[in-house]
Amino acid sequence: MIEQVDSYLNEIDQYSITSAAELEEFRLKFLSKKGLINVLFEEFKNVAPEKKKDFGKKINDLKVNANTKYQNIKETIESNTQSEKIDLTLSGEPVKLGSRHPISLVKNEIVSIFERLGFTSSDGPEIEDDWHVFSALNFPLEHPARDMQDTFFIGKTPDILLRTHTSSVQVRIMEKTQPPIRVLMPGRVFRNEAISARSHCMFHQVEGLFIDKKVSFADLKQTLLFFAKEMFGTETKIRLRPSFFPFTEPSAEMDISCNCNGKGCNLCKNTGWLEILGCGMVDPNVLDNCGIDSKEFTGFAFGMGIERIALLKYQVKDIRIYFENDVRFLNQFKSLI
Ligand code: DAH
Repeated sequence: MIEQVDSYLNEIDQYSITSAAELEEFRLKFLSKKGLINVLFEEFKNVAPEKKKDFGKKINDLKVNANTKYQNIKETIESNTQSEKIDLTLSGEPVKLGSRHPISLVKNEIVSIFERLGFTSSDGPEIEDDWHVFSALNFPLEHPARDMQDTFFIGKTPDILLRTHTSSVQVRIMEKTQPPIRVLMPGRVFRNEAISARSHCMFHQVEGLFIDKKVSFADLKQTLLFFAKEMFGTETKIRLRPSFFPFTEPSAEMDISCNCNGKGCNLCKNTGWLEILGCGMVDPNVLDNCGIDSKEFTGFAFGMGIERIALLKYQVKDIRIYFENDVRFLNQFKSLI
């Protein structure tokens, strides 16, 4: 009997299995209900009592041996058949390229133009307080921009609000940095306005700030001319019109020449000029409010709406489409990655 077990052990050891069919034959022969190992277990009762211990151990080892071999080969065969299913010669699935949002594209372009002039980028919080959005920027208490009609206030006090412009980031930068300062501040702003093709309650601005000794209006003009030519083409001309902002003195609005040269076009309403940004010399009060000595330093600031620049660049007439996530619109910007 014992010899029988030994010969099975030997046979299992030598048994060559190279396919799933051979594996099944092996299982039927040794491990199935009517297999050879079970037959041995049935014979166990006929074994002489003094040999039971030895025999029992032997047939248990035999069973473990057969089972281990079966499991190992089964795993190898399964993993082989899985990798056979992968056809490495097939051409790959095309990866669908996404596209950048036009507002991001324009923002990135503006940032990269000013980077070439040594400007870095910075951001501040969208939920702001009165000081950073209005008070530090010289807004009088009765200024209409502080009104509920324009500003989204948060909570019960009028102190916490959604920033209405990125000029608030100027204040944050000046409060924590001494000149020279040369920084660009892109970001999202909010105004309590009715949504229409031309205005939205949420849009994007880029703010610029340059503060150092002896910064003049001529520096501002030259910087903005460089920007206009880089952004809209080397033929572009600029025009500065006197204006008013509480935080700059003097203040101006800048127009760029329209491609139609005033010959008649809807975009510029036949004037030949398109308004693109507000700017000016930082008011000495603002510098002092932020801890910068206005007797030692001067600076200029400017702010522009990204949607407005995008409208001029891509001729998109309805501002709402920028926020609708319509892929048919967004896909058109694919090639501009
Ligand atoms: N904050 C102004 C606005 O939201 C834009 C602006 C105008 C920013 C003049 C400036 C500036 O820095 O000097 O309309």
